[in-house]
Amino acid sequence: MKILGIETSCDDTSMGIVENEKCLSMTRATSEDFHKKYGGIVPEIAARKQLEVFPYVLDDLINKLNIKIEDIDGLSVTIGPGLVGSLLVGVEVARTLAYSLEKPLIGINHLEGHIYSIFFDNKIEFPFQTLIISGGHTILLIFEDHLKYKILGETVDDACGEIIDKIGRRLNFQYPAGEELDKLALKGDPLYYKFSTPRFKEKNKEYNFSFSGIKTEILNIIKKGNFNLENLISSLFYAIYESLMNNIKKVYNSTGINKISVVGGVSASKFLRKIFLEEKNFEFYFPSFSFSTDNGGMIALVGEEYLKRGYESNIFEIDAVSSLEINKNPFIYKKNLGGNYG
Ligand code: KG4
Ligand code: ZN
Repeated sequence: MKILGIETSCDDTSMGIVENEKCLSMTRATSEDFHKKYGGIVPEIAARKQLEVFPYVLDDLINKLNIKIEDIDGLSVTIGPGLVGSLLVGVEVARTLAYSLEKPLIGINHLEGHIYSIFFDNKIEFPFQTLIISGGHTILLIFEDHLKYKILGETVDDACGEIIDKIGRRLNFQYPAGEELDKLALKGDPLYYKFSTPRFKEKNKEYNFSFSGIKTEILNIIKKGNFNLENLISSLFYAIYESLMNNIKKVYNSTGINKISVVGGVSASKFLRKIFLEEKNFEFYFPSFSFSTDNGGMIALVGEEYLKRGYESNIFEIDAVSSLEINKNPFIYKKNLGGNYG
């Protein structure tokens, strides 16, 4: 079954075609350049550019594979979380294609896409820990089995990609600053500055994260001036690593699970990959770089998992939502049974 996945939760327009858990083709367009002068994403510009570029991205994807759109067996689209205007573009295109081609459609949680991105290049046996680190989220969960996740903790303030981008913006780097700052982090001394990494002791909160304190400390150093940029950024990435590793170790101590999949845009960090892989007693896994940041392939892969198990969305009901929790997707139905899944 060839599944077409559509991802438009932020400024990217990406599509992928997956068959038997392999990504056959993927295309991505970004409106990054149009947001440059504003220092962050302008939602209306992102949505307008997505509408504009959609036919070209789809055409490119289909032509690369030398197939026709009618050869697709099903569609899968990100419904949230993300920018509603951008998500709506993807959802409306997917709805229209599914209706006209008379093919099944499934609406997917973007985070589930990141969780599944690990399978394109790795074989891991369940259960394992999954750490989602992206521009909008920092979540630690146990991936128990296909489509089964146990959320353990998340950030109570900024996501780790968010503080990297905010500090980058303060230092006049172009948004998103992750890739550029990651290069600096590799050159500096990670132990030069010591930043406090908060720990949560309360029950049910012990796996949460907080990054806003680190951000404030760094912004204060920048304000005072006279700092070494490489050492500062290296110490920032090290503090992020420490904070993430503290909770991974806690989960290991209570469950014995020492396999960890790290996904989401920040998992593309070479600094973090290197330092995680140096951890003895743990097995770390990462998606290939093209599947770390937002992409249509991962959405197609989750779509395939649901569709092959008989789940579907109703094309008349499916909608875009700005916030959406993992395990609580109101637009997925078990075919022939009715009723909500999740
Ligand atoms: O998953 P993603 O593409 O979009 C969201 O779902 O948010 O993640 C984007 C985030 C941005 O904060 C970006 O700065 C960060 O991923 N990022 C990186 C790297 N490449 C992208 N952070 C650190 N190192 C990188 N190489
Ligand atoms: Zn993402």
